[in-house]
Amino acid sequence: MGKTTIILGLESSCDDTAAAIVRYGPDGLSAVLSSVVVGQTDLHAAFGGVVPEIAARAHAEKLDHCVEQALTQAEMRLSDVDAIAVTAGPGLIGGVVSGVMFAKGLATATGKPLYGVNHLAGHALTPRLTDDVTYPYLMLLVSGGHCQFLHVRGPDDFSRLGGTIDDAPGEAFDKIARLISLPQPGGPSIEQAAQQGDPTRFAFPRPLMDRAGCDMSFSGLKTAVLRARDTLVAAQGGLYPQDQSDLAAGFQAAVVEVLAEKTRRALAQVPETKTICVAGGVAANMAVRTALETVSRTTDTTFIAPPLALCTDNAAMIAFAAAEQAAGRAPDDMTLSARPRWPLDKEQPAMLGSGKKGAKA
Ligand code: KG4
Ligand code: ZN
Repeated sequence: MGKTTIILGLESSCDDTAAAIVRYGPDGLSAVLSSVVVGQTDLHAAFGGVVPEIAARAHAEKLDHCVEQALTQAEMRLSDVDAIAVTAGPGLIGGVVSGVMFAKGLATATGKPLYGVNHLAGHALTPRLTDDVTYPYLMLLVSGGHCQFLHVRGPDDFSRLGGTIDDAPGEAFDKIARLISLPQPGGPSIEQAAQQGDPTRFAFPRPLMDRAGCDMSFSGLKTAVLRARDTLVAAQGGLYPQDQSDLAAGFQAAVVEVLAEKTRRALAQVPETKTICVAGGVAANMAVRTALETVSRTTDTTFIAPPLALCTDNAAMIAFAAAEQAAGRAPDDMTLSARPRWPLDKEQPAMLGSGKKGAKA
């Protein structure tokens, strides 16, 4: 794929079914021609987390519809597409299998080359699609299912500098929102409540700050918020709106401080790196963004946050990653299989943590 090419991307590794058409070209000519994302929040709402079997079935039902819509929005036909890219892991196995089987069917029927893509590579390479960022750069991936620092040196050359040893931050935002009776998804509602809150009323811990390196932990922080909530409920029979706001503000301040400090430490490990990028749903949080901007200002680096629609799960990032990697690899054949655990960094084992959205890599 040296010249300008058109790639159809497919994503189904978690609870979003997505298809996109991306034009890939040299010198910033790449563009997202269409990006369709169909969420499943309603299907899982009653269960307090993503139910893998329900997710897999919904993906299988919606993929062809998403592809049709992506083609229509890009004003193209399947015959205009040069290659098919699909998330082959990591993620919930049923969803990944749905996508991989669908992509194999399309590739067989059309004779187009097929590329299995690592979902995390999709997130990690997005700043090259949106901002033409040059290698190497530091990527903080923070979402409901992922939390890691990646040193991105090339399309398939990543080092994992550190990550969460338990919950992902988005998962923690969602759990805390549930604990203090705020609506889901927790991130936006905690952020909103925190605006009226006092972040100093509760002395919440900043976990793993005393440990060198940039690993993170959020489950102890969650327990601390739970205890503070229980103390208030025992004393006054419930939570007042101001209590919710103060708990939200205290929790958010702790997460922000940890992410900022660990970003500084990650950067110190790769001092030649001049760009800090962020991706994942938690990148929507203004307090997180502002703190990362401050880190970048004080370390003489540039801060890049792709537009939110490309920060969260989407298929444009999968199409782009395939195109970016195509020069250095062969297409996959019909033996392509789903890899629910697929660490990006080949030197490191997969993380063992498994959040509400499935296995982290
Ligand atoms: O990347 P994403 O859409 O899906 C995956 O987790 O893969 O991220 C969703 C997560 C949710 O946990 C949500 O609560 C969190 O991102 N989130 C936020 C905000 N908006 C979404 N967290 C903090 N502040 C926000 N404004
Ligand atoms: Zn993701």
